[in-house]
Amino acid sequence: MQGGSRIQISDLSKHYGPVQAAEAVDLDIGQGEFVTFLGPSGSGKTTTLMMVAGFTVPTRGDILVDGRSIVPVPVHKRNIGMVFQNYALFPHMSVADNIAFPLQMRGLGKSEIRERVARALDLVRLGQHGGRRPKQLSGGQQQRIALARALVFEPSILLLDEPLGALDAKLREEMKFELKQLHHRIGATILFVTHDQEEALTLSDRIAVFNDGRIMQTGRPDELYRAPANRFVADFIGETNLLSGRVTDGGGEVITIDAGGQSFAGRMRSGFARPSSEATFTLRLESLRILRGEEPADCRAEGVIEEFLYVGNSTKYLVRLVSGQRLTARVPGNLPDETLRVNSKVTLGWNIDDMLLVEAA
Ligand SMILES: Nc1ncnc2c1ncn2[C@@H]1O[C@H](COP(=O)(O)OP(=O)(O)O)[C@@H](O)[C@H]1O
Ligand SMILES: [Mg+2]
Repeated sequence: MQGGSRIQISDLSKHYGPVQAAEAVDLDIGQGEFVTFLGPSGSGKTTTLMMVAGFTVPTRGDILVDGRSIVPVPVHKRNIGMVFQNYALFPHMSVADNIAFPLQMRGLGKSEIRERVARALDLVRLGQHGGRRPKQLSGGQQQRIALARALVFEPSILLLDEPLGALDAKLREEMKFELKQLHHRIGATILFVTHDQEEALTLSDRIAVFNDGRIMQTGRPDELYRAPANRFVADFIGETNLLSGRVTDGGGEVITIDAGGQSFAGRMRSGFARPSSEATFTLRLESLRILRGEEPADCRAEGVIEEFLYVGNSTKYLVRLVSGQRLTARVPGNLPDETLRVNSKVTLGWNIDDMLLVEAA
């Protein structure tokens, strides 16, 4: 299969009357990169993808593929494969005929079609299933057939809109591995849409986080997790404690806030506006420790365990501080600690560097 294309999206916007479905989207996607559009429902992911596919005409902006604008190019001439959540296979046709369909539309010869269909079936590891009807396959297998159909004309770009959304949890997990391996085998550039942060984190080279039609931040999964650019990204990616309060000391490198009577301190980050009145920090669940005895920590707060949830590889503790403020801590380990019960008194500890400023006023 051929390699991927570079996609340069600039100032791309789509307005429906007063609705800004997509607004000023800028994204430079490298050859063979796996980029995910992640965001809540209605944030403009599908709209942006449909403009790349050619089904939606932009209000403004441009899309270059390998340096050339594709905005005037009709859908069937864009050399882009697509898979949707509802994979829409033709039920009355065999699997092989389903996959052959886009090639017949393109007028390829019979022997070439047969060869390419066989190759596409092998690519999704369903080489033996060409003669079956879609109904005779599992949901995951049907989704792989839809993938084969999108890949059979060897597109340099593959667009996937919530392709795993209709599958149950276990199958979805399997398909993640399949997709990743497939990406390595074909080398196509992949744009993947999901509202599921875990899918985004595990599959992507880079993630573009969407909200209200705009990209909030683009970066590698670990960058978004460790250094969210704003409150929205901090809250949307991973679980976190968001702490908002009145700035009591904002002069130096460390900012201190008063949140409901409890004082919190975290580092000022470069490139961030210095807060003067209000500030919000993010503090990840795994940054919080339940301190034993005289264990050292930059910051500490006393409280009571209000509730705990055992989640297999860790336990989450909801701790109500003396001030009334609540923090959630995640303690690793596959055995819950018997000494930590509801109403147990605990001291939480964390490092100043773990508190990241994500909003300033
Ligand atoms: N054809 C349309 N006409 C009017 N509004 C639309 C149309 N398509 C999408 N929208 C609106 O644009 C916004 C973004 O939609 P969409 O791109 O489908 O979001 P997502 O895929 O992130 O869930 C939503 O508010 C949606 O209602
Ligand atoms: Mg959508």
